[in-house]
Amino acid sequence: MKKEILGILRIRDGFVSGQELSRLLGVSRTAIWKTVEQLKKEGYAIEAVRNRGYLLTNADDVYSQNELEQRIVTKWAGKPVSFYESVGSTNIQAKIDAENGASHGTLIAAEMQTAGRGRRGREWNSPPGSNLYFSLILKPDFPPAAASMLTLVMAFAIARGIESTADEEGVPQNGRKPAEIKWPNDIVINGKKVCGILTEMSAERDYIHYVVIGCGVNVRKQDFLPEVAAKATDLESEFGKKISRSRLLANIMKAFESEYDIFLEKKTLEDLKDRYNAILVNRNREVCVLDPKGKYSGVAGGINELGELLVELPDGGVKQVYAGEVSVRGIYGYV
Ligand code: BTN
Repeated sequence: MKKEILGILRIRDGFVSGQELSRLLGVSRTAIWKTVEQLKKEGYAIEAVRNRGYLLTNADDVYSQNELEQRIVTKWAGKPVSFYESVGSTNIQAKIDAENGASHGTLIAAEMQTAGRGRRGREWNSPPGSNLYFSLILKPDFPPAAASMLTLVMAFAIARGIESTADEEGVPQNGRKPAEIKWPNDIVINGKKVCGILTEMSAERDYIHYVVIGCGVNVRKQDFLPEVAAKATDLESEFGKKISRSRLLANIMKAFESEYDIFLEKKTLEDLKDRYNAILVNRNREVCVLDPKGKYSGVAGGINELGELLVELPDGGVKQVYAGEVSVRGIYGYV
């Protein structure tokens, strides 16, 4: 019944009486009152005034199963969603669910993770109350070779989701530092990391069982662990405004769905390439490519339609760097 009450309070500007709610939902006024009390405990700001009824004044702080279900307005991305107060790792949970038949588009999100994982076996610190930790399950019908491009599609969708959320939250556009991408899969603002992506796949030689794209976005102002403090930041510090995590995740799902559907037409990044390159922080910068076969430096151009980074070498040759094998650093630091 929580969902129904919220639905009514959301679409009404003023107070809705307990009597009207009880008539609309076919339950007693006491049942309405009890459910409203539960919603308040979940964080919804609901005013209750004798003889007037109930008024939803703010839902922006709420990050929950209910709130995500209400805000995610897509055809398939983020549907269904499973929200956990605490989970080991959303990627691991997503893999278990995918093995057990979860459908394409299923989203696993958590308030905190007890065993969050980053790339290269690193830990991903995942305290409660601060950030987004989520994993999207995809079951695409194309060969495994194309799957590495999905990380780039997600990186772009997250950057778009951050931008539209900043607009909706009223962060002034002039002077605001945009969300950019550090190839292939970090989002940076002002040269510091706000988001990392860990994509995992279960596949046979020519068939994908599933892909899990796991994302951690730093939202609230926080003290980062000393080892990442110099290169990490969060959205609220950068924007100087409160950001609703539910709104942000819903906006990311919306952006991902539209970019994925474009990607599917050609199964390449041909139609995303130029927009991705426009927000690529490495572009025209000297980068150091940490290739397991030996590291080298060059100047990053942009990505090609396969998502490879084009790096111009000192001898004028151009290397096509494939995301799976390497990572790229700025020559003087992180970007
Ligand atoms: C990176 O090292 O930059 C990637 C970090 C990915 C972290 C996210 S948080 C949600 C999902 N679950 C995990 O255990 N990891 C990813």
